[in-house]
Amino acid sequence: MKILVTGGAGFIGGNYVHLMVKEHPEDTIVVLDSLTYAGNLETLEPVMDAPNFRFVKGDIRDRDFVSALFEKEHFDIVINFAAESHVDRSIENPQIFLETNIIGVSVLMDACRKYGIKRYHQVSTDEVYGELPSDRPDLLFHEDTPIHTSSPYSTSKASADLLVLAYHRTYGLPVTISRCSNNYGPYQFPEKLIPLVISRALADESIPVYGEGKNVRDWLHVYDHCHAIDLIVRNGKDGEVYNIGGHNERNNLEVVKTILKALGRSEDLIHYVKDRPGHDLRYAMDPEKIETELGWKPEYHFESGIKDTIDWYLNHKEWWQHIVNGEYQSYYERMYKDRK
Ligand code: NAD
Ligand code: TYD
Repeated sequence: MKILVTGGAGFIGGNYVHLMVKEHPEDTIVVLDSLTYAGNLETLEPVMDAPNFRFVKGDIRDRDFVSALFEKEHFDIVINFAAESHVDRSIENPQIFLETNIIGVSVLMDACRKYGIKRYHQVSTDEVYGELPSDRPDLLFHEDTPIHTSSPYSTSKASADLLVLAYHRTYGLPVTISRCSNNYGPYQFPEKLIPLVISRALADESIPVYGEGKNVRDWLHVYDHCHAIDLIVRNGKDGEVYNIGGHNERNNLEVVKTILKALGRSEDLIHYVKDRPGHDLRYAMDPEKIETELGWKPEYHFESGIKDTIDWYLNHKEWWQHIVNGEYQSYYERMYKDRK
């Protein structure tokens, strides 16, 4: 099969490509990525010379470009990881989130309709369900939990999900959607909590914790997410949504302290800063559907997964130091200067 992976130079798409190039040598993977600040060709270095891999630079919003690519390549499967993905940036400037995360998705699906594909898969997020209370551990997000978004980011992702389901119902496009909880693992851009804490702790810099650090996220190793997507793409049912999560709820302070301890750094580095506006209190997924229907099970436990991840950042300093020393530096100063 020929598989188009959009956003494959980012965190999750990059890990997906690493795994699939190895595990499915019979398939050809073409990555389409516009290399925004979050896209990094160094992430794709391990697969660049693989015979079943190719990289194409381009923008999913560019209708003519996307159409020409589909006409030439005849893809069997399209998996869309491409997105603006950071909540804080969406609060600062929503526009690009609407353009990439909604319009980009319609451009991709129009090309799918025109040239024909076996499956369009949309990588979505638990954030479309909004927040859960932190004093009701019995409550989890199910696939039929109403959409109830908080940030421009989650609203753009929810809008895309609705559009994907509309293309299925109206045009019969064969689609699936996965909604996953927070990921951690190699190659994550250091604006996100876990790599931000690792990189700053290693430099003995302060760790910004929003509000009281009580917000809860449901952490899943990126490899578990990628294997779930692969299962859905191959065996999932058209028109269906699948929740992905590993029952790994931790509040932010617990996550930060775990990392500081593993790195032998003092908790005095923790610096409480002004909360994120509209900050969702708690996310927690019920993955029962993908477990029972497709036989998916996560392999990683948070305790060992976070240790592996910390080791990865220790052993790949060059990868993240290139980022931390570049454009991201001015973002950090801009984003955190008013939070003190
Ligand atoms: P990321 O920001 O690390 O990567 C996004 C990639 O998309 C980058 O390589 C970027 O260059 C590319 N891109 C952005 N705009 C583009 C455009 N217009 N055309 C082509 N390429 C473009 O994001 P991520 O964390 O890898 O997330 C991937 C997907 O998974 C996103 O759709 C996100 O909403 C979803 N998701 C992420 C998480 C998480 O914890 N990171 C959890 C659940 C779902
Ligand atoms: P993040 O990694 O941005 O993912 P998301 O907002 O999509 O869940 O943030 C994870 C949690 O960590 C979230 O509750 C916000 C919090 N956070 C901080 O406390 N400090 C930070 O500097 C960042 C980036 C996030």
